[in-house]
Amino acid sequence: MKHLEKRLFNISKQNRLLNKKSPIAIFDSGIGGLTVAKKVHMLLPGEKIIYFGDTARVPYGTKSPETIRQYAIQITSFLIKFKPKLIVIACHSVSSLGKKFLENRFNTYHFIDVINPSIEEAIKITKNKKIGVIGTPATISSERYPEIIKRIDRKICVYQAACPLLVPLVEEGWIDGDVIEAVLRYYISDLLKKQIDTLILGCTHYPMLKRAIKKITGNSVHLVDASDATAKKVKTFMIQNTLLNSSKEKFPTLYYSDLPEYRKKIMNNFWKTDGFVIKKVNIEKEL
Ligand code: DGL
Repeated sequence: MKHLEKRLFNISKQNRLLNKKSPIAIFDSGIGGLTVAKKVHMLLPGEKIIYFGDTARVPYGTKSPETIRQYAIQITSFLIKFKPKLIVIACHSVSSLGKKFLENRFNTYHFIDVINPSIEEAIKITKNKKIGVIGTPATISSERYPEIIKRIDRKICVYQAACPLLVPLVEEGWIDGDVIEAVLRYYISDLLKKQIDTLILGCTHYPMLKRAIKKITGNSVHLVDASDATAKKVKTFMIQNTLLNSSKEKFPTLYYSDLPEYRKKIMNNFWKTDGFVIKKVNIEKEL
């Protein structure tokens, strides 16, 4: 864990040139990463936040690693135009399959993923050392979660479930009701039989389903929400590198690759975006 922290927070020579006023860039395949952006905004209100959601190409989690990496490279090429002091990969699918590629390709930039903060939180919480992970097929089949958890504590049992239908349902705003509960029960019941006491929400769309998930898991299972853990990590990074901004910047800028009106409303239900600058970009033009 120490090694990981060191690597994460070890600022490079080039980036010492960054100043406090540079933005924090955050991205996801769609609206899920807003769960992270909102928490970062709440925790660090003086920071300029730029968000990109690839709503034209969501979901990522059912696509191949090559496609996911290619998309992540296009998005990062777009985001670095803003010279961000930090890029937050607010997508577990990209974090598990593409983080190393991004770090190699854009090696003067700093990236924070959503997997390591979730794992650190889950390990602190679990008492019986039985952790469940739900995520997209891409995240689950990457085996990143069991691999990292086992490296930290071999005694922890990790039980995973791929949940391919959840992202499309969240993107359509189906976060409550019989349909989502039936789907969640189908995906989660086998994990509950293993008596997990901690469940990592291994996709940034899933915190929007917390209420429905709680109905299935009950109160004895602790839900780990990557957005809280990641926002804390971002704050630590800013403090340790004296990059904390205390400007009066009030509103994030949100970029999307597509945003039909009805989807704007869904997004607005989660995060009141009045005053935010919202723009559409053609991400396929990047690279
Ligand atoms: N929010 C993304 C994640 O955390 C969803 C990926 C997808 O679009 O399937 O993995």
